[in-house]
Amino acid sequence: MDVSTALDTRTSVRAFTDEPVDLAVLREILTKAARSPSGGNLQPWRIYVVGGDVLADIKARAADVLSKDPRGETPQYDIYPRKLAEPYKARRFEVGEDMYARLGIPREDKAARRAWFANNFRFFGAPAALFCFVERYMGPPQWSDLGMYLQSVMLLLKEAGLDSCPQECWAMLPETVADVVGAPDGLMLFTGMAIGHADKDAPVNGLRTRRAGLDEFAEFQGI
Ligand SMILES: Cc1cc2nc3c(=O)[nH]c(=O)nc-3n(C[C@H](O)[C@H](O)[C@H](O)COP(=O)(O)O)c2cc1C
Repeated sequence: MDVSTALDTRTSVRAFTDEPVDLAVLREILTKAARSPSGGNLQPWRIYVVGGDVLADIKARAADVLSKDPRGETPQYDIYPRKLAEPYKARRFEVGEDMYARLGIPREDKAARRAWFANNFRFFGAPAALFCFVERYMGPPQWSDLGMYLQSVMLLLKEAGLDSCPQECWAMLPETVADVVGAPDGLMLFTGMAIGHADKDAPVNGLRTRRAGLDEFAEFQGI
């Protein structure tokens, strides 16, 4: 698979089969992805991969915390800016509407939307997942390095016939995740990522999200 195909065919998968994921394959992918660039070659990504009993434990603990308070724990960063302006607000709205349309859940049915959202905290049925942390004292440049690493992981997963969904929602449960994986206090959770094989029959996995046209985000000058 070439890079263009991997980029074009990677999508966020939100329904997985229970087919297991080979640990050796995951180890190879995480190793290869470490060729991603990072400012000063800091390689600030800190990854915890979970499956089996640990994954089950996180799911159970997440369900327990969220049953007491659906807002989860105190987030350690703003998942979105508090005031999201256009065009970003409309894009966020659109992807939500497109996804719920595929699921057949209308806007008014808040309970069904909440129930669907809870699937996030079961990793959408994926048999494996990772959590990406970063040292708390690091800033936006290092956080951008995390994105480069994670995109490499997702493309390599695609190449290996695997699917993924990055999951910032886990930032709603930073204490639970850190506790289960044993991450030290100095590390801050950025995101989770569900990993497995897409359930090809699930309508939600047919979602092809849109992208802004080139001229909406790029300018070419003197070239
Ligand atoms: C850092 C990051 C965190 C995300 N968190 C979630 C999440 O918690 N739950 C979810 O369903 N999708 C999540 N997504 C998926 C985005 O909604 C998705 O990438 C976007 O809508 C574009 O769709 P595509 O990935 O299918 O191309 C996340 C994506 C990124 C990059």
